[in-house]
Amino acid sequence: MADLSVTYLGLDLAHPFMAGAGPRGHTVGGVRELEDGGASAIVLHSLYEEQLTHESLATHESMEHIAHSHGEAMSYLPEPEGFVLGPEEYLEHLRRCVEAVDVPVIASLNGHEAGPWLETAAPMEEAGASAIELNLFEIVTDPAVTSAQVEQKKIDIVRGIREKTSLPVAVKLSPFYSSLPNFVARVLDAGATGVVLFNRFYEPDINTEELEIVPHLALSSNAILYHRLRWLSILSGRIGCPLAISGGVHDEHDAIKAIMAGAHAVQMVSASLLRGPGVYGAVRDAVSDWMDEHEYESLVPMRGSMNIERGPDPRVLTRSQYLRTFATWSPHQHA
Ligand SMILES: Cc1cc2nc3c(=O)[nH]c(=O)nc-3n(C[C@H](O)[C@H](O)[C@H](O)COP(=O)(O)O)c2cc1C
Repeated sequence: MADLSVTYLGLDLAHPFMAGAGPRGHTVGGVRELEDGGASAIVLHSLYEEQLTHESLATHESMEHIAHSHGEAMSYLPEPEGFVLGPEEYLEHLRRCVEAVDVPVIASLNGHEAGPWLETAAPMEEAGASAIELNLFEIVTDPAVTSAQVEQKKIDIVRGIREKTSLPVAVKLSPFYSSLPNFVARVLDAGATGVVLFNRFYEPDINTEELEIVPHLALSSNAILYHRLRWLSILSGRIGCPLAISGGVHDEHDAIKAIMAGAHAVQMVSASLLRGPGVYGAVRDAVSDWMDEHEYESLVPMRGSMNIERGPDPRVLTRSQYLRTFATWSPHQHA
């Protein structure tokens, strides 16, 4: 049987298929279900900068909305009052989750500007987290703010975290940067251990009848996989660091592509909400069967085999095939 073991952020994992930050992490029972379902590691939901600075928690509303917009598929979601809110509660919850499962538990911090909230990294380490995932989500609306200023703020956060903890730190990035490889190189230089590609935004919708902007969060499909495959392929070829994919992995085919593009770890959230927490074990077994059929003994020769350095035609990843791809489109492809 193929060896699926992998090292991600210095953590030895039985296989790459892990639970990304999501609602199942809100309860110890949910975390146990993720482990029982086969997840090789579990990223808890985020503790937000706003929670630490006592500002309002807009995400809450989004969670409430999604719970009501997905009917039965989402009926497992805890009611908003069941969510873990304050930092003390989060740390206590983290402690209890670490005790409850054998797989590594990764804490998640979510913020956009360096500040006292970064102090929480040290107690997260004391509470038994195996690593910290840092989500740097921000929407800039001020035309006077440059991308260089925004990036510098993120680098300062990473440096700040690095000063507070010796835990491995994975930075969960937003999908759009003018020069992602340069930013990733700087994030690593500032002390990050690896990166997660990518965060998926809550994108509000417009209600044209009520004239309201409404929170909107649909679960993903693998339509968002391809953007991640491209950047995994480029970063795994150009920058050697631990890489995780987050977004659009729903089955073994998506997972195999992510690994061939260069992912060490494969996070899934929507798939587990749609198919149940057993999805991690199911994908693990299906990937293992596929590897046996294709005579791969371990993930090592597979990982990055289709990246920008090792793949058969790196041009498809960059601008050079852009014109050709559009020029060769035919309506019959969609007939
Ligand atoms: C209901 C829900 C809650 C989420 N909560 C968090 C969170 O607390 N922190 C975070 O970094 N990402 C959070 N995410 C984003 C996921 O970790 C993941 O990046 C995103 O769903 C894309 O992966 P997927 O296609 O496997 O769902 C959440 C996603 C969903 C659907």
